[in-house]
Amino acid sequence: MDIGIDAIGFYTPHYYVDLVKLAKARGDDPDKYTIGIGQDQMAVAPATQDIISMAANAVDALPSARLDGRLGMVIVASESGVDESKAAAITVARLTGLNPWVRAFDIKEACYGATAGLLMARDYVAAHPTKTALVIASDIARYGLASGGEVTQGAGAVAMVISAQPRVLALQDDAVAYTEDIPDFFRPTGMTVPVVDGHYSTAAYLDFVTKIVGQHQVQYHDTITDYAALLFHLPFTKMGKKALAALTDSVRLGQRLTAASQLSRQVGNIYTGSLYLSLLSLLCHDKTMQAGDRIGLFSYGSGAVGEFFSGILAPGFADHIGQAAVIQLLAEREELTIPAYEQMFNAQIPLGDAPAAFPPENSPARFTVGGRRDHARWYRDTTKSMTEGD
Ligand code: HMG
Repeated sequence: MDIGIDAIGFYTPHYYVDLVKLAKARGDDPDKYTIGIGQDQMAVAPATQDIISMAANAVDALPSARLDGRLGMVIVASESGVDESKAAAITVARLTGLNPWVRAFDIKEACYGATAGLLMARDYVAAHPTKTALVIASDIARYGLASGGEVTQGAGAVAMVISAQPRVLALQDDAVAYTEDIPDFFRPTGMTVPVVDGHYSTAAYLDFVTKIVGQHQVQYHDTITDYAALLFHLPFTKMGKKALAALTDSVRLGQRLTAASQLSRQVGNIYTGSLYLSLLSLLCHDKTMQAGDRIGLFSYGSGAVGEFFSGILAPGFADHIGQAAVIQLLAEREELTIPAYEQMFNAQIPLGDAPAAFPPENSPARFTVGGRRDHARWYRDTTKSMTEGD
């Protein structure tokens, strides 16, 4: 029985910064950002978007018929959550009106969390073939203004329905995972930005990718030539190029990686959703991919866990990735000047539980953060005349 991704929904905030302008403002050569790091634009989350509202907006981008009574499990993966205890998945399920007869919970392991959720969902459907699962990756990547990692920030969410007879990608039972306790990137409780050693983290990533793909070849007797495309977690798109170069010099795989990097170039690092944004980008931007093609996916989460697995494209996959909505979402975005970006970056809802209230966000987003009241955040839903704040 094939099990895998049946539909994909994507959301990124309404605002972005042009990285040539950011480079100039920081006194850097723009080529360093656009060529050396491989990023053109960076999504900026206003205070009215958090990982819950973004996750709900990504779910809203899915065909609603896929979220019927068969849904049995809702997983949110994130490393930028807003509560130390309560799962974001519970609030997302309520906001989006999901069937309440589900297991809803969160997963955290840096940028690897969504892969853990996806493979857990695959096992769940294998055990219960009439059921489906919803896996949502949602994150805001923040390193700080003028910090070393600033150009690799971003924000967004990817929602995936996992089912039997999937219409996008059948996940193969061939995952190879590796874990090693390393201090490349971590964010102690109470800190708003991570402690990161950028160059060490890129070296660790490359060490993981060669080790894990090599082990996959030993265990499953595959070679790079078996793959129509290789996808990677993309903290910045040059990282994917480095990873591919460590494995092969194939021109064909290089071209496909270019297509798979397009959306990340415009959005930035969305942490745990980044690998799946790359899958979406490949399917939207490379018209030569065909049903039956094998795709290899490399997931990396600092700390660190890496995993390599593969999937086979399903017939008609292009009809289930919401491509028109992705194009519209990005086309409608608003560019921020550098001072406006800096102001938005600093105007976040403070840590803790103090009351806060925001005016409605001037954007097409259905779900936004309204503020915080009685210790908890509340959300606006533009399809409802009465909001939680009324
Ligand atoms: P940096 O020190 O500012 O940049 O940090 P650099 O000096 O290393 O230069 C970057 C590249 O630009 C180099 O290319 C330069 O040669 C090139 P490379 O040698 O690497 O191929 N360059 C130029 N190219 C053209 N024209 C020029 C020019 N000047 C320089 N004029 C760094 C870059 C990525 C380290 C930094 O932004 C950072 O720390 N980012 C955050 C950490 C990160 O993204 N790590 C990636 C691996 S870890 C991971 O993926 C997990 C993560 O997503 C978190 C999680 O799991 O939760 C981060």
